[in-house]
Amino acid sequence: MTDAVQIPEAEREIERRRTFAIISHPDAGKTTLTEKLLLYGGAIHLAGSVKARRAARHATSDWMKLEQERGISITSSVLQFDYAGRRVNLLDTPGHEDFSEDTYRTLIAADSAVMLLDNRKGVEEQTRKLFAVCHRRRTPMFVFVNKCDRPGEAPLKLLDDVEAELGLTCFPVTWPIHDDDARFTGVFDRLTRQVHLFERGFEHGQRQVRARSADIDSPEIQAALGVNELRRLHDDLELLGGAGADFDHAAVLRGELAPAFFGSALTNFGVEPFLHHFLELAPAPGPRPSTEGIVEPQDPAFTGFVFKIQANMDPRHRDRIAFLRVCSGRFEPGAVVQNTRSGQPVRLTQPQQFMAQERRQVDDAWPGDVVGLYDRGSLRIGDTLAAAGDIHIEEMPRFSPELFARIAVPDPLRRKHLDKGLRQLSEEGAAQVFFATTHAGPEPLVGAVGRLQFEVLLHRLENEYGVSARLEPLSWSHARWVTGSEEDIRRVGGASGRMLVYDAKQRPLILFDSEWSLRHTMSRETSLEYHDVAP
Ligand code: G4P
Repeated sequence: MTDAVQIPEAEREIERRRTFAIISHPDAGKTTLTEKLLLYGGAIHLAGSVKARRAARHATSDWMKLEQERGISITSSVLQFDYAGRRVNLLDTPGHEDFSEDTYRTLIAADSAVMLLDNRKGVEEQTRKLFAVCHRRRTPMFVFVNKCDRPGEAPLKLLDDVEAELGLTCFPVTWPIHDDDARFTGVFDRLTRQVHLFERGFEHGQRQVRARSADIDSPEIQAALGVNELRRLHDDLELLGGAGADFDHAAVLRGELAPAFFGSALTNFGVEPFLHHFLELAPAPGPRPSTEGIVEPQDPAFTGFVFKIQANMDPRHRDRIAFLRVCSGRFEPGAVVQNTRSGQPVRLTQPQQFMAQERRQVDDAWPGDVVGLYDRGSLRIGDTLAAAGDIHIEEMPRFSPELFARIAVPDPLRRKHLDKGLRQLSEEGAAQVFFATTHAGPEPLVGAVGRLQFEVLLHRLENEYGVSARLEPLSWSHARWVTGSEEDIRRVGGASGRMLVYDAKQRPLILFDSEWSLRHTMSRETSLEYHDVAP
């Protein structure tokens, strides 16, 4: 399959790919920014109103409609577009109500992440959680401070907060410019020393904003900016320590320094300078750890891993879509590869309906790309597909759930089906199953990162396993996997306000009823180690 790969082509294709996710708290403007990136990427020519699409969000996929209208290649999980010679894969992390383990896993498929902040709110709860996942993997980070069209926190304070709260040092690449009436007029680019001044439009950012760009010292800019505006900008820049002084691209790639940008997704101010630099500075697909050592994207043999499985909620269609991130080699539709866990062959066929109407079906995909595969239940989250060999790309971590429920089936005769369903759905990553030790034997509990995961679980148990189950919510709110001596684990887990359970792989976890209880235990019971991702 891989004989035909010409190395220069592969290298070219890999080098031009940028695969990333946007992480943010709900309402920071992720939908708006995503749309504007598509606008600048030429994938759409007129940005619609977020509101209208929001209303339609739960009816059908708004993106799919967009795809048909505009002829772009979109799935509900990945948006692909070209910009300045780059092939951009923007992985969609679901919004608030859809928050689940999928959101976390998607970050594992990304090569970099953009942290989107509201200029009034800075780092918020969900940003913090998502950042923790990126940070653990040293994912290169970028920051976009949004909504600068309205007054917010001082830019420097926002960046200082990011550093104080997350330990992430920012390097402002662009800096906001405000006129004497505190209106957002443009950004200064510290790497190119260009000032970009944006023209206020009347179209609510439906089209690309008109901009004037010139060197900060040029007569044009001197004339365009008011005396006070210019002085303020110079004062700010002095405070930042000279243009471009400490920019260290290697530190960006190590995930230690985050280039930061200011703008307004709503009015498009600052979006293009961000996109331009982001695509220059963000990494191309990189190496991935595996059981057989490091897999380089340039390795000619095909490998990829499944990071998400989307079940069809329509009971008449049992098939699902498994999302595969290509790690090395070339994805050729129709080729047969191996599922290295089960040893079964898998034919690589791309789901037709995810491809745009006006665009021919993509014939191939390269490292960094995400491909949706039809699956009739044989694929699981974390599976590696490879041209050959017994290789397993990095394990998909299990994240500590925050919601717990006891699962009850009114009909005891369905208990076996329940067990089977729970086992399979937990293997697939739809929810996590734990076992509490009771007098009557092990009692299954389910845990989830987001509420929607529970809904999906009940729906699928009913439709796929014929089990109508009920969930009885439990008051546990935090969980940690623990390592240590068995005696200590039993003692600590057995105390009041805690519960000891085991996951499907027999690894012990302690459940806590509050954040306080968790912190208190961790500080007192130091004979154990606590892990928020399965060890
Ligand atoms: P999300 O996906 O992160 O949840 O956020 P979304 O893009 O849906 O945006 C949330 C709200 O923030 C929307 O307002 C949106 O218009 C607004 N917004 C996004 N970017 C900007 C920006 O750059 N400046 C300002 N001022 N607002 C922005 P909404 O009130 O929910 O809807 P609407 O009434 O504005 O349509």
